[in-house]
Amino acid sequence: MGGFARRWRLVALALLGLIAAGCATGRLDATKPVGENAQQIDGLMRLSGWMAVGVGILVAAAVVTIIVKFRAKPTDDPDDLPPQIHGNRKAELTWTIIPTILLIFLTVYTLPTVFALASQGDGITIKVEGQQWWWQFSYDIDEDGQYDIVTANDLVIPTGEEINLEIHSNDVIHSFWIPQLNGKKDAVPGRVHDWRISSNEPGIFYGECVEFCGLSHANMQMRAIALDPDDFDRWVQQQYDGQTQARDVAPAEGTPEAAGATLFETHCISCHVVDGAYESAAGGNANLLSGLAPNLTNLMGRTAFAGALYDTYLPDGSLNIAELREWVRNAPNMKPARADNQQGMLDFSEVLTDQDLDNLVAFLKTLGSPPVLPQ
Ligand code: CUA
Repeated sequence: MGGFARRWRLVALALLGLIAAGCATGRLDATKPVGENAQQIDGLMRLSGWMAVGVGILVAAAVVTIIVKFRAKPTDDPDDLPPQIHGNRKAELTWTIIPTILLIFLTVYTLPTVFALASQGDGITIKVEGQQWWWQFSYDIDEDGQYDIVTANDLVIPTGEEINLEIHSNDVIHSFWIPQLNGKKDAVPGRVHDWRISSNEPGIFYGECVEFCGLSHANMQMRAIALDPDDFDRWVQQQYDGQTQARDVAPAEGTPEAAGATLFETHCISCHVVDGAYESAAGGNANLLSGLAPNLTNLMGRTAFAGALYDTYLPDGSLNIAELREWVRNAPNMKPARADNQQGMLDFSEVLTDQDLDNLVAFLKTLGSPPVLPQ
């Protein structure tokens, strides 16, 4: 092999290594399940993986043995061919029966998991809606058929409960995947797909849309925030408090917040809802839904914005004002979208002055309080 080919091979190997390493070091990690469903899937994956490794080793060993044992020797007469045979019943039966046994074994282990994953849990039910290009989550906490809490990007759940999800799509096919909590489930227009997630421990678990759904598919992310039951109750109360505050507490006149509220009314409420305070042009705030863009009632209570692409708070705990402000100024610049087709936020850079942006951010800061984080 020439020097060039050898070097090329080394580069290819190094690249392969890097790619393989990427599988386990990203924020989407299916090898560290924290919930029952994800653990079952992980168990199956390991079982079939190790079986494949075993088969691979046996086959490779057989190939190497045959190559070495039956290679041509310098003393061989090139005209003297080994005995020519047609078929070998023993060998053919062996390589039919062994894989059959292995597959039956795998089927027996897989089927109960398939049924277990399809069953419903006894925890709360959350409506999940995928749309280009973000996720919305609606909670009917008091189970009266009305949604009490609506969030975007952050899916907050209590630990130790099997959470039922009703997965919808408002436009094209998306796929819901939070690998540490369960496998993938498609969100299909006109259909409701039941799914279940759970976490045994508090934490933040990252998820993404995993069905190609257009321009910002790769930017359609989400986070599951699993809280101890007590913390989850605190979170629910915080959401209600945010709604009450938005409805009952108007910013004091003459403040930047008040100026921001006016701007919000002018530019934002045709798509966004703030429960009680600004009803949506899309049909009021029944069920808190705008249908077009995230409900912003408790914006400050979320860990992320813009399809969970950006952190709401910096590592030191302060508000990520720079990116929030830039997002309001020119959203398509931070996340490719098609505002002309009602997919994503408009570019306001020609509309809002620096002062306007400061006032709007001041107003946004009044929407809810900092998130309840896993302990
Ligand atoms: Cu939604 Cu990809």
